[in-house]
Amino acid sequence: NWSMKNFIEVEKEKIREQVGDDKVLLGLSGGVDSSVVAALLHEAIGDQLICMFIDHGLLRKGEGESVMETFGKNMNVNLVKIDAKDRFLKKLEGVSDPEKKRKILGNEFVYTFDEEVKKLTEGEDIKWLAQGTLYTDVIESGTKTAQTIKSHHNVGGLPKDMQFKLIEPLNTLFKDEVRALGTELGLPEEMVWRQPFPGPGLGIRILGDVTEDKIRIVQDSDAILREEIAKAGLDRDIWQYFTALTNMRSVGVMGDERTYDYAVAIRAVTSIDGMTADWARIPWDVLDKVANRIVNEVPHVNRVLYDITSKPPGTIEFE
Ligand code: XMP
Repeated sequence: NWSMKNFIEVEKEKIREQVGDDKVLLGLSGGVDSSVVAALLHEAIGDQLICMFIDHGLLRKGEGESVMETFGKNMNVNLVKIDAKDRFLKKLEGVSDPEKKRKILGNEFVYTFDEEVKKLTEGEDIKWLAQGTLYTDVIESGTKTAQTIKSHHNVGGLPKDMQFKLIEPLNTLFKDEVRALGTELGLPEEMVWRQPFPGPGLGIRILGDVTEDKIRIVQDSDAILREEIAKAGLDRDIWQYFTALTNMRSVGVMGDERTYDYAVAIRAVTSIDGMTADWARIPWDVLDKVANRIVNEVPHVNRVLYDITSKPPGTIEFE
């Protein structure tokens, strides 16, 4: 008689038995998996859980705030937020090669996590590191092929010289079960149904070099797209939908003025697993609304493009 309620009770008991009175650290990214682990561990061991949320400044609009609100304010989780935007932007300054940007972002994430964990463990005796590993990750790591088209990085890798014991409470579950678990634990709908978001964040949705102004353009245009997709009731049908800032500027006209500004691209795809994808047939009137709002509401954008490439040959992300 397996039910989610049952699973939660059994799992909480197992976790308590496993960690005893020890403290547990969790790298919280705001993604579905780490969020569900946080909620589950918080129910099981309360203040013995310490969550670390590193904000690299390349999150979508409102995302950092929503993590703090859900876990800090509403659930009263022991939560440390690391504001790392400046160090990330500094490292990225003037870098436009996609693979270099990915390397920098991945490395900087590990360094930041490392440093902050060291600081934290000077004052606290933390024995465990929790991770949101899913059953599919367990299977895949057994059969992983060497092929890397883009270097991927994920939040919460284990610091090299740190001795933690690992706790992975989701490692028997599939994604849909993790969502059901999150819902049962009372996590907000938008968090449980959040679309995939790459570790390097908006850093790979800004083509070419990254600046604060460009981050704002992607954040604002992306927020408009998300809002309109949700209003149209399409948010569960489309695998991923986001805007990217092309490194193209072109001529436009606004009132009586000639403009020379950026083009924002909309990317929206349907997919089963992200390995292959097709461009989403978003209704014209929804696209029309989004494009109009973006050029009117986001400064320095005078053109909106819709990417109608499937994967392959295109990838989902632009870099
Ligand atoms: P691509 O662009 O390769 O993306 O078609 C396939 C899926 O993977 C996501 N993606 C990443 N996820 N770290 C991640 O955690 C990464 O570095 C990364 N790069 C791409 C992408 O959003 C899509 O869902």
